[in-house]
Amino acid sequence: MAVITNDEINAIRNKANIVDIIGSYLPLTQRGKNYVCVCPFHDDHSPSMSVSEEKQIYKCFACGNTGNVFTFVENYEGVNFIDAVAIVAEKAGIDIDKRKLKTNRVLINKDELEMMDIAEKYFQNNLKTEFGTTAMDYLNGRGINEDIIKEFGIGLSLDNGDSLYNLLLKKKYDSKKILEVGLVNDSNGKYYDMFTRRITFPLWDKDGNIVGFSARIYRGEVDTSKYINSRETKLFKKGETLYNYHHAREFVKNEKSVIVVEGFMDAIRLSVEGVRNVVALQGTALTKEQIVLLKKLHVKVILCLDNDNAGEAATLSNGDMLIKEGLEVYVIRLSGEKDPDEYILVHGINAFKENLKNPFTFFDFKMYYLKKNKDLSKSNDLALYINQVLEEVANTGDEILIEVTLNNISKEYNLAMDVLRGKLRGLQKDNKKEVKVVEKKIKEKKDAYLLSADKIIYFMLNGGAYINEYQKKLGFFEDALHREIANEIIYYYQRNNAINPADFISYVSDKETIKDEVMNIVSNGIDDDVSIEIMDGYIARVDELMVKNEIKRLKIELKNETDASKKIEILERITELKKSD
Ligand code: CTP
Ligand code: MN
Repeated sequence: MAVITNDEINAIRNKANIVDIIGSYLPLTQRGKNYVCVCPFHDDHSPSMSVSEEKQIYKCFACGNTGNVFTFVENYEGVNFIDAVAIVAEKAGIDIDKRKLKTNRVLINKDELEMMDIAEKYFQNNLKTEFGTTAMDYLNGRGINEDIIKEFGIGLSLDNGDSLYNLLLKKKYDSKKILEVGLVNDSNGKYYDMFTRRITFPLWDKDGNIVGFSARIYRGEVDTSKYINSRETKLFKKGETLYNYHHAREFVKNEKSVIVVEGFMDAIRLSVEGVRNVVALQGTALTKEQIVLLKKLHVKVILCLDNDNAGEAATLSNGDMLIKEGLEVYVIRLSGEKDPDEYILVHGINAFKENLKNPFTFFDFKMYYLKKNKDLSKSNDLALYINQVLEEVANTGDEILIEVTLNNISKEYNLAMDVLRGKLRGLQKDNKKEVKVVEKKIKEKKDAYLLSADKIIYFMLNGGAYINEYQKKLGFFEDALHREIANEIIYYYQRNNAINPADFISYVSDKETIKDEVMNIVSNGIDDDVSIEIMDGYIARVDELMVKNEIKRLKIELKNETDASKKIEILERITELKKSD
């Protein structure tokens, strides 16, 4: 299978000037040798984004969004890296073979992904056979027609236990791989289809590859769980998927929001009714990985979870997590029916859209929630409520919201503004203290060693001379992350005979472990000049700090060592190191 090579990607990046490409989306103004614009990735009012023509890198100094021309398009258009390459190529008038535009993930897992596609087609076909009539009736009864079935790849697993397994064997797939990908179960060495007697729904990764299935009972079975899901495999990580994400990301830009629901049936219902900027959690709790996916959309999040206590509690905890990550959060609470799917079937899509017009802000939802289980005619409930409200509003740091809220409670509960303000000031002081402690911790972490190591990496990205200097004078980092990045740089340079920060960003785009740190390092260097003399300064600093750390480590080892001759060995090494210090 043809793959787009790094060289080709670099050639596209070279031909496409980042200033022209970003300029095709946003007005840029020249300031000094860089260009600036209002950042599209956060609610920006003054131009916080800087675009360097010389380095072919952009960076927002307010929200930290950064990268090369592909990263910009990836973030702006909400597409994956490879699609961003295609868009940039087109904008720059470069012809590329579309078949080459497959991500590495697809290439590495070619057989596995093919098997998932075959399984999907097979399940879909079952639905059309004589075995599918009951399932079809069930789906139609839920208002799911042929078009929806097709669009969401809905299918049926048969009653017998090995038809899919046999089909895959016949197509010459390895039985171990079939097991690994979670399509069969191992029962004492005999393999059986994982999914039987259920309606199947494919689950996709963020790029739209089928990586698993969820399957639902449909004949009123009892004593079995309603849904079963693929087990965790190298393709499928439940916590990393947001159902419908790859469809929704096309629509969030227009709507400027993404709606988050619990069940995939809710997401399907909304999509069918034309509300297509929707994703489903497949449960109630939002995971860290799902938050990362939501952040990438750069739009506000509207939580619309089930109409029960679990849904309400999850709205609160999920909302808190999203707010902490700097996202703008709104809440819809539907009443009457149990979830968005049933609500829409009973009340129609327009009733849902009315709710969508006026969602609660997350803060207002929280206020409602705090009030809900309290009897505010009782003084201790009332005091608790007001204290909680003050705490929440202090946390927002939003002065206008603070003023409005204080005024409201003062009027509603007949309390003196002075008292409320006094209490609030106390809380704000505590908050400031907390922020300071956190900031201090961050600073300590990014200590001298890490800062210098970052700089050395940055220099290495600027050409062979700097890579040589590193190999000659340092050759090693004590921490795994910088070590891995340095090794990747050396490897990259050996293969390409050239290197620059903007191309290296493309190269690490699918290397999850180092990508963020590389971006960080490059963006911090956006205005740096490079020279061997400056680099030597950083190398000397890192060398000195690593020796100190090594001595520290050896001293601890010495303390724990009981063998006398080994103790001497350690002492000798310490003396040696101290000499070079
Ligand atoms: N879920 C699951 N396993 C279960 C139950 C639920 O994985 N045994 C996940 C499914 O992804 C489901 C979501 O949690 O989409 C929400 O569950 P629930 O509200 O019970 O399902 P509904 O969306 O109401 O499903 P249906 O309308 O088909 O009953
Ligand atoms: Mn439902």
